[in-house]
Amino acid sequence: MIGLSKMFSKFPKSLLWRSGIKVLRRATPAGFSKEASSSFIKDDITASAPKPLIQNVSKGDEKRYLKIAWNDGTSSRFPYIFLRDNCRCPECFDNASKQHILHTVADIGLDIEVKKASLSKDGLTLKCLWPNGHESMYTQDWLRDTRMREGNETRPRNFDSLIKDELILWDRAKLQDKVPSHDYSGLMKDDKNLFDFLYALYQHGLVLVNHAPAKDGVIMEMAARIGWNRRTHLGEYWDVKIEDDPTHLGSTAKFLHFHTDLPYYSTTPTIQALHCIQQSSEGGRSTFVDGFNVVKQLKRINPDAFDVLTDFYVRYSDEGNDAFGEYSLGFSAPIIKLNKFGRVEHFQCSHFVMSETQNDYSPSEVLAFYDAYYQLTKLLYKSENVVDFRLQPGQVALFQNTRVMHGRSAYEVIGETSVSAARWLQGTFFEHDVIFSKLRVLQQKLGLKSPRIYKQSDDFF
Ligand SMILES: [Fe+2]
Ligand SMILES: [Zn+2]
Repeated sequence: MIGLSKMFSKFPKSLLWRSGIKVLRRATPAGFSKEASSSFIKDDITASAPKPLIQNVSKGDEKRYLKIAWNDGTSSRFPYIFLRDNCRCPECFDNASKQHILHTVADIGLDIEVKKASLSKDGLTLKCLWPNGHESMYTQDWLRDTRMREGNETRPRNFDSLIKDELILWDRAKLQDKVPSHDYSGLMKDDKNLFDFLYALYQHGLVLVNHAPAKDGVIMEMAARIGWNRRTHLGEYWDVKIEDDPTHLGSTAKFLHFHTDLPYYSTTPTIQALHCIQQSSEGGRSTFVDGFNVVKQLKRINPDAFDVLTDFYVRYSDEGNDAFGEYSLGFSAPIIKLNKFGRVEHFQCSHFVMSETQNDYSPSEVLAFYDAYYQLTKLLYKSENVVDFRLQPGQVALFQNTRVMHGRSAYEVIGETSVSAARWLQGTFFEHDVIFSKLRVLQQKLGLKSPRIYKQSDDFF
């Protein structure tokens, strides 16, 4: 969005203002260039039809709102305190940092009321004069994009009540041998390539990079290309290979059950990357299951179990000594976490690190949890749900750690001297914030209108 202060400088000095209450309908619509940046209303986002124009502005019947009538017959109310708070003049808003300056809401006061509201002659700009003489201006586009949901309007409709529409759920039939893949050199060099790759990660929760150099530290070069990675007790990045004195099952050649990593953090890393540098001679197949898809199956088959798993806070803990010394981590979270719309926002579970301490609950509640967890586990391991493949040296798997579970089959280490030639993966974590930040930046840079990346909302899921 163009800063208003920039736009103000373009206004002719002789601009005429029509005072207040009634403004005539304009005959010809002005051009509509910018995509809605924060509207709740899906029509504005997806439709190519022009946005409605301001028909008139009035104080309305309610004391604390300014009312704007649009020429499509709808109207919007703007709380005065919201308008005053969001004044974009240079005194109130720093256009360079895009941050509020100077006032607090306490300075404005709850009883603020506009002294005079008027529209510019072309109807494109609203001017508000406040009791202390301060003037604020708002463009029609800004008002349209920031308007609030009125009683008769609904939020964007999501056809699936449980999963966001643009996500692609998968099972073995859908993704086995068909995991979205991108070439390393392409996404390192080409912005559109990187955009498509990150968007595929968002949609599928699992993507592959091919032909990356099979050497130490490449994963950090990818991290720098995407933005930045997430450091944890495992370090900036970490190795998955056999160790003499393993502190994790990952550092053995044993079979690994499905799990999500690090559920014992209050802020569990949301994305994981695993780069294959060396592969074992036998076994060591990576296994994946789409937790969101399984949750959907569970809700259909056993809604009671689904409810229990959204309610019951499972405690996870882990302690040991790793990249930054001794650690002792613990946190609890439900396996299925729903967001404010009742959609699945995260799915996480690791049997390895489930704590024995569940004493916020009664024995019957713990039993109800086990009943539900049993139903979930049976679905997770149904062969129809599982995708598996052997990562090849130079491949990187990126997956959403709060949606997709991963595991691996046991692998062979043949002979005493073969440990150095055995399976060697390198991993690191990322956050959704970084992925979405990059997607938004690239979308703007490339001028992509679609797919839409939610610009101001935290509603990823
Ligand atoms: Fe893991
Ligand atoms: Zn101001």
